[in-house]
Amino acid sequence: MRTRMTELFGIKYPIMCGGMMWLCKPDLCAAVCNAGALGNITAANYNSGEELRQAIRKTREMTDKPFSVNLSLLPSFRITKEMYNGWLDACLAEKVAAFEISGAPVDKFFGPDAVKRIHDAGTKLIHKVGSVRHAIHAEHAGYDAVIAAGVEEGGHPLNDDVTTMVLTPRMAESVKIPVITTGGIADGRGLAAALMLGAEGVMMASRFMATKECRMNSKVKDELVVRQEFDTVLYGKTIELQGRAMKNEVIKNILEMESRHAKLEEIAPFLMGLRQTAIWDDGDIQAGLLPVGQSIGLIHNVVSCKELVEGMVKQAEELLNKAQKRFHNA
Ligand SMILES: Cc1cc2nc3c(=O)[nH]c(=O)nc-3n(C[C@H](O)[C@H](O)[C@H](O)COP(=O)(O)O)c2cc1C
Repeated sequence: MRTRMTELFGIKYPIMCGGMMWLCKPDLCAAVCNAGALGNITAANYNSGEELRQAIRKTREMTDKPFSVNLSLLPSFRITKEMYNGWLDACLAEKVAAFEISGAPVDKFFGPDAVKRIHDAGTKLIHKVGSVRHAIHAEHAGYDAVIAAGVEEGGHPLNDDVTTMVLTPRMAESVKIPVITTGGIADGRGLAAALMLGAEGVMMASRFMATKECRMNSKVKDELVVRQEFDTVLYGKTIELQGRAMKNEVIKNILEMESRHAKLEEIAPFLMGLRQTAIWDDGDIQAGLLPVGQSIGLIHNVVSCKELVEGMVKQAEELLNKAQKRFHNA
């Protein structure tokens, strides 16, 4: 299954793992890469460029395949400008294969020479965006690819609220650089559909949480299997940082505060990523925000990354072949 995405990164299958704070660390990243997809190290897991550099080196001890580093250039209570600069410098010195950027584009965040610096290091640059206008900006700025992130996604979908089904073909008809799609993809059906919509491949995050190699309390993985597609909710519209997370007590509190237009200072303690460690380490589903996409409804088991990636490709190929035969015979 070769596409412009597999060519761009030099990977076997057109599948990549999206950035996940607290979860995308060397073990999961290497497992995704060794399965033939593009793994991810999320910079925000580390407090300095040096810590990130050690994570990159640790990953390279476990895989010789390329992987991306997620840089979330979003408002944060924890991350300082110095940390962002440290991460960028470390990744360029280590010549990582790709950046998956979310939030502000690198030319605006780090300055106009950032794209050249990144390309000079041999690093591919991808921006995860929720609108055609942002994809066009990325293309003009010199990015190598864009990720069309539909509102179904976990994390921080853009408040345009456009679905993957519409955003992907709109983006594919609007830019020449490869479009990768995300939000609502969890199996070979989603991969086949994405290719039909004009994408060169898919990115998934929620589905990779329910893999054997993702380090988290098994209670959370069991919950991912049990919960359904209607078990997530959007929050954060009133504070201009929309997110999608699993329905739980914390989300109920946040939505109640938002309904009475509470100030950011009141809501902020509930948004803190540090609360999430009680979820991932102890399996306490009610402890904090649990980011997850609507694709949760498509997660039916916990498998290895290899089983997941190879199973998806096999299913997509079978479906595409079947469809071709069906139309041929009609
Ligand atoms: C637990 C979790 C943590 C995430 N953390 C980040 C992050 O730190 N930075 C980022 O750009 N996106 C983050 N995301 C969003 C994903 O990278 C991806 O865009 C999205 O989840 C794709 O939708 P899906 O979950 O339906 O596959 C996170 C998603 C999840 C589920």
